[in-house]
Amino acid sequence: MDTQVGIVGAGPAGLLLAHLLGREGIDCVVLEARSREYVEHRVRAGVLEQGTVDVLTRTGVADRLQREGMVHRGIELRFGGEGHRVALSDLAGGRAITVYGQQEVVKDLIAARLDAGGPLEFEAPATEIDAERGVVRYGDGGSDELRCAIVAGCDGFHGVARAAVPADALTVYEREYPFAWLGILARAAPSSEELIYTHHERGFALHSMRSADVTRNYRQVAPGEDIEAWPDERIWEELQTRMALADGSFALNEGEVFEKGIAPMRSFVAEPMRHGRLVLAGDAAHIVPATGAKGLNLAVADVRVLARALSAYFAHGDESGLDTYSERCLRRVWRVQHFSWWMTAMLHRLTGDAFEARLQRSQLDYVVRSRAAATTLAENYVGLELEDV
Ligand code: FAD
Ligand code: DHB
Repeated sequence: MDTQVGIVGAGPAGLLLAHLLGREGIDCVVLEARSREYVEHRVRAGVLEQGTVDVLTRTGVADRLQREGMVHRGIELRFGGEGHRVALSDLAGGRAITVYGQQEVVKDLIAARLDAGGPLEFEAPATEIDAERGVVRYGDGGSDELRCAIVAGCDGFHGVARAAVPADALTVYEREYPFAWLGILARAAPSSEELIYTHHERGFALHSMRSADVTRNYRQVAPGEDIEAWPDERIWEELQTRMALADGSFALNEGEVFEKGIAPMRSFVAEPMRHGRLVLAGDAAHIVPATGAKGLNLAVADVRVLARALSAYFAHGDESGLDTYSERCLRRVWRVQHFSWWMTAMLHRLTGDAFEARLQRSQLDYVVRSRAAATTLAENYVGLELEDV
């Protein structure tokens, strides 16, 4: 055996797993296909649930997060030209979210791993995994071999780990949405203290941020949209139209766009999340549409369960945590799938059907008027605790 746990992928799931296992004295090797530079600059999510912040804080990798992260206690839902605040913390027992870029979490975890002297190999793509024997082939043409007691497939949606499970041992549930998100990062001060989720007849728009002078905005586009068809002026114009308030009192601050990309919207679950010596975590096992801001948080939740299971396994050969890993994770995965699907269906322009649009407006009205409905949104958005799911 070369290592106790072979971790494939240095995204949030793989890096946090390595960090948690390292603290328990469990030996692991992380293999990442891309360069350090690439993974540290890959712009993705930005909303951390309370539970995600707590685990990073408790395990000593949140110094910068505590300094630079922005704690938010509410969000705005905007529709029909009016804004409505959902008071997340009041409705969800004081819990809050923190806005802090995913790539910042990744940088912090890479630094912690390298400081601890743990093996983390960049530009070392896994090419093949033997789930029964716990062997990972990697490197140029699969020239190297890593033998592991357990392999953690944390290699995202397009990785190789899920494909290492025989097709007849895996059930896949999937839904593709007829739209995507065009996301930008811009040098502009946030136009609001809190995130704004906007439902508009021309489509969904979201105003988010990264710091006092960087904003992150998203808007719904067609799935096959060419990013080149969207020069910056057109992006701003469309965002301004969708986010406008009826009384004319709102304008988005504009600035230089320094990052833009299009992300597809998909729901996906592969069950079970373990086969033989291979366990799957994060996007390797499931994808949610981004409207609920859950992808990263779900990856973190999987890894918390997995780290506990592995620690019992290596400390006293107790396999019960590994045996129940998939079942325990999938309860949360399906709760989050439902929430993400619900937020997506409520806020986007769907087929353009008028009946559907009326139902969406009714649902939005209900969420902002009923404390019970708002509480449902709030407690899911800030994140249900592991024991509650
Ligand atoms: P990843 O972050 O995908 O990490 C997997 C890692 O494995 C990567 O570093 C990859 O390079 C590596 N890898 C892949 N194949 C191999 C291999 N063969 N060998 C070794 N390494 C390999 N969520 C939100 O909540 N809000 C958002 O706005 C949002 N935007 C997104 C935009 C995009 C374009 C994408 C793809 C996702 C977005 N998400 C968003 C989802 C969120 O970022 C993911 O849920 C989160 O990154 C999951 O973490 P992970 O560690 O499981 O997977
Ligand atoms: C961000 C991303 C999301 O998917 C979301 O729902 C809210 C905010 C962000 O990148 O800031």
